[in-house]
Amino acid sequence: MSRAIRIHEHGGPEVLKLDNVPIPEPGPGQALIRNKAAGINFIDLHQRAGRYPLPKLPVTLGMEGAGVVEALGPGVTAVEVGDRVSYVMGGHGAAPATYADYTLVDGDALIRLPDEIDDETAAAMTLKGLTAHYLLRGSYPVEAGETILVHAAAGGVGLLLCQMAKAIGARVIGTVGSEEKADLASAHGCDHVILYQKEDVAKRVKDLTGGEGVPVAYDAVGKDTFEASLSSLKVRGVLVSYGTASGPVPPFNIFELNPRGSLYITSAGLAWYTRSRAELMERASELIGMVATGDIVVPVRQRFSLEDTADAHRALEGRFTVGGSVLTL
Ligand SMILES: NC(=O)c1ccc[n+]([C@@H]2O[C@H](COP(=O)([O-])OP(=O)(O)OC[C@H]3O[C@@H](n4cnc5c(N)ncnc54)[C@H](OP(=O)(O)O)[C@@H]3O)[C@@H](O)[C@H]2O)c1
Repeated sequence: MSRAIRIHEHGGPEVLKLDNVPIPEPGPGQALIRNKAAGINFIDLHQRAGRYPLPKLPVTLGMEGAGVVEALGPGVTAVEVGDRVSYVMGGHGAAPATYADYTLVDGDALIRLPDEIDDETAAAMTLKGLTAHYLLRGSYPVEAGETILVHAAAGGVGLLLCQMAKAIGARVIGTVGSEEKADLASAHGCDHVILYQKEDVAKRVKDLTGGEGVPVAYDAVGKDTFEASLSSLKVRGVLVSYGTASGPVPPFNIFELNPRGSLYITSAGLAWYTRSRAELMERASELIGMVATGDIVVPVRQRFSLEDTADAHRALEGRFTVGGSVLTL
C-alpha cells in the first residue's frame, strides 16, 4: 500500500486526510515513482479549497515531487528503473498526486537528477524553478541591465526568481511582507526590497527608476498588488500575472492599458511553457545547471512529515513560510 494525503471534499487544511491506497501499476508511457520528497506549492491550497478545478474527488494532492523510478510501463524511453528523478504533474487539468509514497507519472515528464542535487532540493526547485525560468526567459525575456519588479520575493518561487534574474544581470526590486523576509530577499538577489504592506510600491519603484518605471512586473499576489504592478510599469511595460495568493484580480477594463502607456498584461501558466519534452528539458537543463554549479541556491526552509501536511498548508496560507517547503517521505 501507499500512504497518500487525499481530500474527499474541498475546504480548509482539516480536509487533508492520510489514507492508505493501493500502489498503482504503470500503464503505457508511465513510470511508477517511489517519492522521497514532495514540494508544497500555493496551487495545492487553491486546489484543496476548490478555487482551482480538480478531477473528481477523492484525489491525492501535490504537483511537485522527487524520488526514484521503481517500475516502467511499456514505451518509456526517457528514464530507467533506479534513476533519481524530479517532476511536475503536468499538462492542463492533470491530476495532482505527489503527497504520497508512490506516484504514476508520464515518462516524458521526468527529469533525471545529477548527484549534486538531493531529493529535498529537487522537490523544492522543479515546479518553482521551472516557473522562474519561463517567467524570465519566456513570458517576458529579461535582459542584462534591466530593472524588474518581483512580488512576494521571499517566497518559494520568489527567491529562485530573484536569484535567476540576478544571474541574468538584471537589477531586482522585490516586495515582501516582513523585515525578516526583506533580509532573506536581499541575501538572494534583491537589490532593493519594498515592504508592500507599509510602503507605496509604485512610488518607490518610480523613485528607484528615475521616474520611468520597470519594463516588467512579475505578480503572483493578484488582488492586493494588481494596481501597484500596473502603476509601476514604464511605457509599453508588461504585467506578468501568474498567481492569486491574495485573491483573484477583479474585472478590469482593458482600455485602461492605453492611457497608462500601451501596457501589456499576460496571465501565465507553467504548462503553456513546457508543452513538449524538448521544451521541458531545455528549461530543466538550464535550471539544473544553475543549481548544480551554485549560481542559484534552493532554500528549503520548512520540512514536514506526511502526517503534518495540514500544518504545512496552514503555514503557507498564513504567510509564515520563506523559500521552499517540502514533505519528506
Ligand atoms: N502560473 C504559474 O505557472 C505558477 C507556478 C508556480 C507558482 N505560481 C504562483 O506563484 C505564487 C507563489 O507560489 P509559492 O508556492 O512559491 O508560494 P510562496 O510565494 O512561498 O507563498 C505565497 C506568498 O505570497 C505572499 N502573499 C501575499 N498576500 C498573501 C495572502 N493574502 N495570503 C497568503 N500569501 C500572501 C506571502 O508573502 P509575503 O508575506 O512576503 O507577502 C506568501 O508567503 C502563488 O501565487 C502560486 O500560485 C504560479
